[in-house]
Amino acid sequence: MIRVGVLTGGGDCPGLNAVIRGIVRKAAQNKAEIIGIKNGWKGLIENDTIELGLESVSGILPKGGTILGTSRTNPYKKPDDAKKAIAHYKKLKLDALIVIGGEDTLGAANKLLKENDALNIVGVPKTIDNDLSATDFTFGFDTAVNIATEAIDRLHTTAESHHRIMVVEVMGRHAGWIATYSGIAAGADIILIPEIKMDLDEICDVLKKRHARGKGFSIVVVAEGATFKEGQVVTQEEKLDAFGHVRLGGIGEILAVEIEKRTDFETRVTVLGHIQRGGTPSAFDRVLATRFGVKAVELVLNKRFGYMASLKANEIVEVPIEKSVGVLKTVDMKLYDIAKLFFG
Ligand code: F6P
Repeated sequence: MIRVGVLTGGGDCPGLNAVIRGIVRKAAQNKAEIIGIKNGWKGLIENDTIELGLESVSGILPKGGTILGTSRTNPYKKPDDAKKAIAHYKKLKLDALIVIGGEDTLGAANKLLKENDALNIVGVPKTIDNDLSATDFTFGFDTAVNIATEAIDRLHTTAESHHRIMVVEVMGRHAGWIATYSGIAAGADIILIPEIKMDLDEICDVLKKRHARGKGFSIVVVAEGATFKEGQVVTQEEKLDAFGHVRLGGIGEILAVEIEKRTDFETRVTVLGHIQRGGTPSAFDRVLATRFGVKAVELVLNKRFGYMASLKANEIVEVPIEKSVGVLKTVDMKLYDIAKLFFG
């Protein structure tokens, strides 16, 4: 019987439990044992584990978050942590490790793989931001887009009744996928993304023209990582996380103040924040996550170490983990051009 570890790292994401469930089911079919590693890389560094049998994954499919817990621990941040992680991998007598994560968690997996022949790692791409290269979609994104879309629909009511501009700040880090998808889906009047520098004169011009043609309200969707022409990203604090990332957030407020000042239209801001990551996954994400989980076990059984499950043209395929990290997948400009058709 082979023993396979599984960990979930980075921000929690709707669909993580569906992946874990898929892994455990597929493993059981093939008489493989699954060991859950708690709280991402932290659990491997500290040897904090839990047995994952069929009973432990029963009923978790619709649940948000991760039953394993997660952390933003980077095994390369402290001098001996990577060594500890490798030592515990051996101590646990693991034949393989399934790493479910985004750019940071998979980036660490890639580094561990490169430096240690003894580690057999396969990956599953996760993030609401949808910014991982080498997969068409990550699970969690669809749910986040649905949550943001519903929120924008609701904000329409107040925008229209009060003749206001509503600025909605969404997540997505340095990519504007959530903003673009939710903005198109909810009929936003302007969508601002990190891929294109913001020009306040242009933005206010669009809003003024819209109001001049009798539309007394507007919806502006702004991605948290969007920047002004001469500006930097807006952060909530100076501190960096273990992977060197800033905590984004706050651009919506600045934008709203500037818009109101320049247009004289009453403006309000809503920051959706972690609500976008919370709660039950959409049907699309449950299916994608389940397919990814099953594929991850197949990769282990076929000894395709160094690869991760990926969605390409609706097929679940394998791609080298290193292809997914390092290069950010930014918004497709053909899609953004479609969004622009509806501006103003
Ligand atoms: O990567 C997912 C994400 O939700 C980003 O969209 C956001 O910038 C970040 O994580 C927030 O991280 P935290 O939960 O650590 O505040």
